[in-house]
Amino acid sequence: MEGSQPAADDWWRSAVIYQVYVRSFADGDGDGTGDLSGVRSRLPYLAELGVDALWFTPWYLSPMADGGYDVADYRTIDPAFGTLAEAEKLIAEARESGIRTIVDIVPNHVSDQHAWFRAALAAGPGSPERALFHFRPGRGEHGELPPNDWESEFGGVPWTRVADGEWYLHLFAAEQPDLNWAHPAVRQEHEDILRFWFERGVAGVRIDSAALLAKDPELPDLAGHRGSHPYLDRDELHDIYRGWRAIADEFGGIFVGEVWLPDSERFARYLRPDELHTAFNFTFLTCPWDGERLRRAIDETLAEHAPVKAPATWVLCNHDITRTVTRYGRADTGFAFTSKAFGVPSDLELGTRRARAAALLSLALPGSVYLYQGEELGLPEADVPLDRVQDPMYFRSQGRAPGRDGCRTPLPWAAGEPYAGFGSTGDPWLPLPPDWPLRAADRQAEDPASMLSLYREALRLRRTLAALHTGPLRWLSEGPDLLVFARGENLVCAVNLGDAPVHLPAHTGILLASGPLDGEDRLPGDTAVWLAV
Ligand code: GLC
Repeated sequence: MEGSQPAADDWWRSAVIYQVYVRSFADGDGDGTGDLSGVRSRLPYLAELGVDALWFTPWYLSPMADGGYDVADYRTIDPAFGTLAEAEKLIAEARESGIRTIVDIVPNHVSDQHAWFRAALAAGPGSPERALFHFRPGRGEHGELPPNDWESEFGGVPWTRVADGEWYLHLFAAEQPDLNWAHPAVRQEHEDILRFWFERGVAGVRIDSAALLAKDPELPDLAGHRGSHPYLDRDELHDIYRGWRAIADEFGGIFVGEVWLPDSERFARYLRPDELHTAFNFTFLTCPWDGERLRRAIDETLAEHAPVKAPATWVLCNHDITRTVTRYGRADTGFAFTSKAFGVPSDLELGTRRARAAALLSLALPGSVYLYQGEELGLPEADVPLDRVQDPMYFRSQGRAPGRDGCRTPLPWAAGEPYAGFGSTGDPWLPLPPDWPLRAADRQAEDPASMLSLYREALRLRRTLAALHTGPLRWLSEGPDLLVFARGENLVCAVNLGDAPVHLPAHTGILLASGPLDGEDRLPGDTAVWLAV
C-alpha cells in the first residue's frame, strides 16, 4: 500500500493546497493585521500539517476596499503585509519545506487607486486612458441614469458616475473598476504580471473571477437579451487563457480558475489541455450534506473533467463561503450567496461531526483538495459585531447580507496568549470570538481527537497511499445515505450520511475514522472511514 508520490511536474493533479488569507493568518509585527512575517513564522506548522502548496489571497498594494481584491499595484506587496523581498524569502523558505506557492491574480478589475484608473479619471472622456476601462455616458435626459440594467455581484448598480458626467463599470464594488479586456495593453500588462511572479518562483496562479473578464462591447441590457451573455463566460476568454497557458508552460507553472458556471460542458472548456490546469469545484462546495446529491455532484464532476483530462478539485469552503462546521449544522446545509442571512441557527456539534466526515470524503476523492485556513481547526463562522464589519458585500446589500467577515476572523494559535496567540498587541482588524482560545492550534495539537489531529493524520496517510493519488474511483454501494467507493485495489472510503449506524464493508484494517466507531464494526451516522481492503 505504501507507494510513490506522483511525478514532480504532476504535483498539482493530486495536491493538497492550503489557502492563506494573509490578513488573518498570523500577525508577525503585532499591528493587528496578519502579514508575511507571520506566515514565515508558521511555516513549520504548515509543513507539519502536510500541505503541498499555499494559495495566498492578494498580498499586493491595496486600499483594502475588498480585502485586497482591489489591487493598486501588482508588483508591490502591501506595506501592511511586508515587502517584495520578504515575499521572495517566503516563497523560497516554503519551497525548502516542500511547499509551493500560488498567488492570486485579479484580472477583471483593479483598485480605483491604481495608476491606470487615476490617469483615466484625470484624462477625461474620449481619452486613450479611459479606453482601458468601460466608461460610458449615462442614459436619461441628462445622463443621470446608469448606462445599462446590469447588477453588481455585490448587489446594487455596477456603475458609478464621475465628476465630468461619465459612468464607469464595476461588476463588484465602486472601488473596483472593470478593465477593458478588448484593449491590447490590458492583455499585455497581465502577461507581464504573470511573468513577474513566475520569475519569483511561484508555482501557480489562482485567477479571480475568471469567467467575467470579457464583455460584449455594446454592454447591452440583460433584459430581453439573446445570444452570449454580455459578461459571463464569453468565448473570447479562451483565447486570453491560451496566451496565459503558453507563459505558464515556460515556467512549469499551473493555474486554478475561479469559474462559477452551472453548465458543466461550458465549465470544462476552460480546462482544455491548452487552457487552465484546474478550476474550483463549486458544484461540490455548494452541495448540501445529502448522500444522493453528493454522489451526483461527484459523478458529474468526474464526468465533466474526464474528456479534457483535467483533474477535479474538491473544495468545502474559502474566504467567501460560510465556514463548513456552521453550514453543516444548519437545516439548509447547502450554500448560496443569495440565501445568506443573519441569525440562522446552527448545531455546531452536528456540523463538526459532518465537517470531519466531509474532510475524509474530499481527501479520498481523485484530484486536488483545497483547505481554507482554520478549516483544519474546525472553526465555525464567527459573529462579527456590526460596528466592526468590513466586507463591502454587507454595505452594498444595505446591511441585508451578513457579508463574508465571519469566515475571515484571525486564527487562534495559542490558547493562553492575548488574542489567542494571533500575535497582535492591540485589537486585531476583526475581533476574535470569545471561545477562540478553546479552538487554538496549540491545544488541538495535544488532543488526538481534535480536528487538527484528524487533518494531520489524513494528510500524512494521503502522502503515503499511492491509491489516493492515482487509483481510479469505483463506487461500491448505492443507497441514499451511504457513499462507499474504492480507490485502486486496496483502499475504500465509506461515509454514512444517515442517522442509523451501518455495517462496515469488508476490510482488513481501519486506516482512519472521522469519529468513534461503535465497536461492532459499524459506522455511525455522519461518520467517514478509510479502510484497507
Ligand atoms: C472573487 C473573490 C472575492 C472577491 C471578488 C472580487 O470572487 O474570491 O473575495 O470579492 O472575486 O474580486
